[in-house]
Amino acid sequence: MQAQRYTDLNPSPRVLLGPGPSMVHPRVLRAMAAPVIGHLDPEFLTLMNEVQELLRYVFQTENRLTIPVSGTGSAGMEAALANLIEPGDPVLIAINGYFGQRMAEMARRYGAEVDVVERPWGEIFDPDELEQALQRRRYKLLALVHAETSTGALQGHIREIVEAAHRHGALVVLDTVTSLGGLPVEVDAWGVDVAYSGTQKCLSVPPGLAPITFSEGAVQVLRTRRTPVISWYLDMRLIEQYWGDKRTYHHTAPISMVYALREGLRLVAEEGLEARFARHRENARLLWQGLAELGLEPMVPEAYRLPTLTTVRVPEGVDEAAVRRCLLHTYNIEIAGGLGALKGRIWRIGLMGYSSRKENVLLLLAALKTCLAKR
Ligand SMILES: Cc1ncc(COP(=O)(O)O)c(C=O)c1O
Repeated sequence: MQAQRYTDLNPSPRVLLGPGPSMVHPRVLRAMAAPVIGHLDPEFLTLMNEVQELLRYVFQTENRLTIPVSGTGSAGMEAALANLIEPGDPVLIAINGYFGQRMAEMARRYGAEVDVVERPWGEIFDPDELEQALQRRRYKLLALVHAETSTGALQGHIREIVEAAHRHGALVVLDTVTSLGGLPVEVDAWGVDVAYSGTQKCLSVPPGLAPITFSEGAVQVLRTRRTPVISWYLDMRLIEQYWGDKRTYHHTAPISMVYALREGLRLVAEEGLEARFARHRENARLLWQGLAELGLEPMVPEAYRLPTLTTVRVPEGVDEAAVRRCLLHTYNIEIAGGLGALKGRIWRIGLMGYSSRKENVLLLLAALKTCLAKR
């Protein structure tokens, strides 16, 4: 073993303006360096309670079952679907991008009879068309994405959609991975049954935890399941015994990630939700204005364009990957290309959490101008 082959860890100081992870706030990094204590240490149990309180604040909910699931955003998606679905359950998934497709794929794996309602990538759903789809049969749940990171479209009218779903006896699962902490997510006011997110986007905490919240109605569904949850690791009835009053061991909590999330959430509370949403909106507008000055065109109309993730059409004749390489290697800036059908056709620019700062917007615009001039 030639140990000297493995040099000191020294990642470049990137400016992360892609679809995630976003830049981690220095206070979060400091929190992660705190000594690790036991996952049943009374001091840690207090921190867990605080994380739950702070999560209820960002999700704008009183839901008791509000916790961070171990794993990235996809673990949140999987926890939502695995716990609500029993084999044979009819489930409706609204798909207008890559992450809707992922939900459909997961729901099938958990044995659901999946129907989909689709819109072209970049568009959003009208509550009436979802209500029509909900009339096809009695679905156990409707799942949809609030902020589609693959397209940059923000699905509005969530309250109306939830009302329609409830009229037809379906629960609503909402993906808030690219909205929580950057855009209003009003779980109780909208009546959402299960919402999940990830730590690495607007919360500016490294990837590794998936905040999730279950309404009392959703908890009732968990309690009355006929079959055990197929995933042992994500079984909320087991996990809630650790996060609830019993504090029974299920799996070892990722201690340093819980420290990180607590600090990230403390930063959200200090800034205040409204001020934080306003900051995300203002910086997005600054970006959109600058892109227009460069002659670049956003893919999504402003009426439902995500402030946290902007998709930009690659101009004719420009090598999109070469521009991204120029940004990364010359200016240390990361943005992303398109996913699936949008590969090679768009750039995705994220302004989330600690990345959403004026200086980053201005730096990106100046760097983009230079990189485009070279192509
Ligand atoms: C809308 C949405 N849902 C789910 C996910 C999955 O999250 P992760 O990649 O953290 O597992 C992502 C990740 O980008 C996302 O943007």
